[in-house]
Amino acid sequence: MPHSTASAASTSGPGAHAAGEAGPAAIALSAFLDGHPVATFVLDTAHTITHWNKACEHLLGWSTEEMVGTKNHWQAFYPKQRALLADLIVSGVDPAASEHYRERHKRSALIPGAYEDEDFFPNIGVSGHWLHFTAAPLRDGGGQVVGAIQTLRDVTERRVAENALRKAHDSLEHLVEKRTAQLAEANQRLEDDIRQRELADAELRRRNIELTELNAQLGMAQQQLLQSEKLASIGQLAAGVAHEINNPIGYIFSNFGTLQSYLGSLFEMLQAYREAEPHVADAATAERLRAMREGLDLDFLREDIPSLMNESKEGIVRVRHIVQDLKDFSRVDANQEWVWANLHQGIDSTLNIVSNEVKYKADVVKHYGDIPDIECLPLQLNQVIMNLVVNAAHAIAGERGTITVATGADDGGHVWLEVRDNGSGIAPDNLSRIFDPFFTTKPVGKGTGLGLSMAYGIVRKHNGAITVQSTVGAGTTFRVLLPVRHDKSPTEPGAPQP
Ligand SMILES: Nc1ncnc2c1ncn2[C@@H]1O[C@H](COP(=O)(O)OP(=O)(O)O)[C@@H](O)[C@H]1O
Ligand SMILES: [Mg+2]
Repeated sequence: MPHSTASAASTSGPGAHAAGEAGPAAIALSAFLDGHPVATFVLDTAHTITHWNKACEHLLGWSTEEMVGTKNHWQAFYPKQRALLADLIVSGVDPAASEHYRERHKRSALIPGAYEDEDFFPNIGVSGHWLHFTAAPLRDGGGQVVGAIQTLRDVTERRVAENALRKAHDSLEHLVEKRTAQLAEANQRLEDDIRQRELADAELRRRNIELTELNAQLGMAQQQLLQSEKLASIGQLAAGVAHEINNPIGYIFSNFGTLQSYLGSLFEMLQAYREAEPHVADAATAERLRAMREGLDLDFLREDIPSLMNESKEGIVRVRHIVQDLKDFSRVDANQEWVWANLHQGIDSTLNIVSNEVKYKADVVKHYGDIPDIECLPLQLNQVIMNLVVNAAHAIAGERGTITVATGADDGGHVWLEVRDNGSGIAPDNLSRIFDPFFTTKPVGKGTGLGLSMAYGIVRKHNGAITVQSTVGAGTTFRVLLPVRHDKSPTEPGAPQP
């Protein structure tokens, strides 16, 4: 095909076109080109247009008559003269060396020496057109270039579609990017939210634990308060009862003394009558007196009445003691006052109070040392002694045991008090917990677990110390150390200075 067109090109010229083709092949070429729907023009080696087909006329708006035989083909495309691809082929210039085509041209894959190019031409048509060029050399039989043929296809629609597609693609990509960013942001927000929720959750759980602990502490404090409240009211009640009994017992006791001395006088008088009896002159009267004396068994009465009186007096003395102990123990009047008091007195009255709890289980042995009075809260110390002694009694089961209460003083201004038992002892595991509030090994109803914690608190208030030594199966010793003088301590910040 290139060969036949080459020979056609060599014989055709401007004149030939105007005058008609010489041979059937040339005619065939011109007709062929006109019948061909692709816009096509042909240049000879002098860059003169030899063919400009109908499709070209139609596409570019320049007629065949205007173009053939001229070198004005550039006018159809550009405002200024410049080489087209076909011109470069005819000149033997590689488009790669041309400033206009360097960047855009492509070598044809099918035809050697042919090139392709695509460009936009704003001057063609109303709003410009995209054209795709193909330019190929025309060669003679010897392979010599004798011209060039260039075709142009209108690819505007494709380019527009491509552009629209690219735009759509771009906007889609943009949209995807935007959406991705939005999603990432939302995701970030969600993660932040989750993290914050987790933090809040942890905080809540921590608070809850704190509150639960606080609640437990509050419960304990309340129990302790209740317990001490109960003890205080029991003490008050006891003190009230003791006070009421104290008066009548007082006058019974003093009347009793008087009664005893009156009775003594009466018995003396009776003795005098008895001795005067033989001297009664009237026999009937003397007989009546004798019968009455024997009937009443006056001799027995004279022996029995004083012993009855003594026994009763002993009883009254005991009642008086109990009442006094109750009063001493309660000391409601001196409830919270620091006073100088003797420990032995407190121990004695307390032992009397708890004797009922102790006397069936153990003998109480006292080893009192020589101790000075101490500045203390006596009622509260009595409470300590009571708790220790009752615990000691509880620890003794089965065989009768011994509870030893000992006191003494050291050189460092302290007195000490020991309550020792030969009871069950305390298991080593429990030893560290016995002072905890509510720690008890006793069955419900028997133990509250508050005795030792209260004792500990009271001893601490006195700036003293309480220690324990115990051997399982052998017994336990509690030792309380108390300062003689009460030092206003940091545990009582509000206490007035002496
Ligand atoms: N002398 C003691 N011998 C043996 N165990 C004792 C003695 N004193 C206290 N304990 C132990 O310490 C626990 C706590 O005592 P306490 O605080 O007085 O409470 P409670 O007597 O109500 O149980 C007792 O349950 C007991 O196990
Ligand atoms: Mg107890």
